[in-house]
Amino acid sequence: MEDVLSPLRCFGEYHNSESFKDDNVKTVTSVEQKKVEDSIQEVLSAYQQNHKLPQPALLREQHYVYLKRGLRYLSDSYECLDASRPWLCYWILHSLELLDEPVPASISSDVCTFLARCQSPTGGFAGGPGQQAHLAPTYAAVSALCIIGTEEAYNVIDRQKLLDFLYSVKQPDGSFLMHVGGEVDVRSVYCAASVASLTHIISPTLFEETPGWIARCQNWEGGLGGVPGLEAHGGYTFCGMAAMVILGKEHMLNLKSLLRWVVCRQMRFEGGFQGRCNKLVDGCYSFWQAGLLPLLHRALYTEGDSTLSQRSWMFEQQALQEYILLCCQNPAGGLLDKPGKSRDFYHTCYCLSGLAIAQHFGSRDLHHELILGKDENRLVPTHPVYNICPEKVAQALKHFHQLSVPVQREPATGTLNLP
Ligand code: FPP
Ligand code: ZN
Repeated sequence: MEDVLSPLRCFGEYHNSESFKDDNVKTVTSVEQKKVEDSIQEVLSAYQQNHKLPQPALLREQHYVYLKRGLRYLSDSYECLDASRPWLCYWILHSLELLDEPVPASISSDVCTFLARCQSPTGGFAGGPGQQAHLAPTYAAVSALCIIGTEEAYNVIDRQKLLDFLYSVKQPDGSFLMHVGGEVDVRSVYCAASVASLTHIISPTLFEETPGWIARCQNWEGGLGGVPGLEAHGGYTFCGMAAMVILGKEHMLNLKSLLRWVVCRQMRFEGGFQGRCNKLVDGCYSFWQAGLLPLLHRALYTEGDSTLSQRSWMFEQQALQEYILLCCQNPAGGLLDKPGKSRDFYHTCYCLSGLAIAQHFGSRDLHHELILGKDENRLVPTHPVYNICPEKVAQALKHFHQLSVPVQREPATGTLNLP
C-alpha cells in the first residue's frame, strides 16, 4: 500500500498554470467555468489556511450517519424521486459497502420486502409499488439485492418474468426501450446486460444485434452518445462500454479513440471529470468517466498492448481523490457535485465509487493501492462493470449459475415459444 506523502498537487504552482484561459473572449461557458474554478480555489485556500500539513480526510463517520438515516427516513426533497425508490436503496447500500459498514439483518430484510413490492406482475421492477416496470429501477433493484446477497434477497427476483420483461422491451435493431412504450438509449442496454448476466438469464437471442447497435453510438469524438448520432457523454459511454464488456464485444469499439476522449474529460484545474466536452466538473463523473479506465485497461491488455502500466490507471488518480475529498464532501455527511451544491444519495454513491476506483489499481491478481491521505480514507474496491463490491458479484454469479437459464416465452400468452 502506498500513502501519498507528496504535497497536494493543488497547492503547487502547477495548479494555477492549469486554470482556464478565455483568450479575452467571454462566453456563457467560459464565465461558468471561471466561476467554478474560483469557487474551488476558495475551498483550497481555506483548507490550506487551516491545515499545516494537508492530508484531506474522508468524513467516514458523518457519511455513515447520513446514509444509515436515509435507509429509514427521507426528507421532503426526495418526493421527486418517488419513481426511483429502488435507486435510493442501491445508492445507499453501495455507499455503505464501500465504507465497509455492515447493514443490520432486519434492515436488509425490510429492503427485500420493499423491493419485492416494486416487482411488477409482468416482470422487472418499477420505481415504486404499483408503478410500471422500467429498466433503470430494475437495474437498481437487482444490484441492491445482490449487495444484500442473502437467499431472501436472491429469491425476490422472478427470473422467468425478468426475462419476459427484457424481451418485451427488446427492439429488432438490438437496442432496448427503457420501458414498454418508452424511449431507447444506451442506458437500457447496460441495465439489461447487467441484470441478465448477474442472474444468469441470457438466452441465445436476448442480445442479438445489440453489440452492433452499441458500436453505432460511438461517434467522431471517441465517446458514446445516448443513441447513434448524439453527442458523446460519460454516462452513456460508461453504459455502452460496460455492456460491451459483459457481452464480450468491447473490441467492436474503437478503444484508442475512446481512451483519448475519456482522458481529456479529466479537468486540468479541478482534478475531477466533466461529463462532456466544454461542460463543468461534477463529482458523479468520478465514477461514470474514471470507471471507464479499468474497463479500457483490461480491454487494451487483452489486445496485447505492452505499453500499459502495471501500477496505475490512465488518469490522474491523486488529482481525482483531491477533488472528491476537498471539494465534494458535505461536513455534515454526504457528497455532492461541486462546491456550493447540496448533498444527495446519487452523488454520495458515485463520488465514493469514483474514489474507490482512484484508490485501487488492478484486480484480484495484481492489486496496487494509492490512498491519498491516511489509511482510514481507504474504501473497499468496487467492480468496474457492475459497481458492486467484487465479492458480491462473485457470490451472485455463483448462486444464479446453479440455476438453468429460463426459456423465452411468447409475449402475449406467456406460453412456451416452441417451433
Ligand atoms: C446530462 O445531464 C446527463 C445525461 C444526458 C445522462 C447521464 C447518464 C448517466 C449518468 C448514466 C446513467 C446510468 C444508468 C445505469 C441509468 P446534464 O446536462 O445536466 O449534465 P452535464 O452538463 O454534466 O452534461
Ligand atoms: Zn452529477
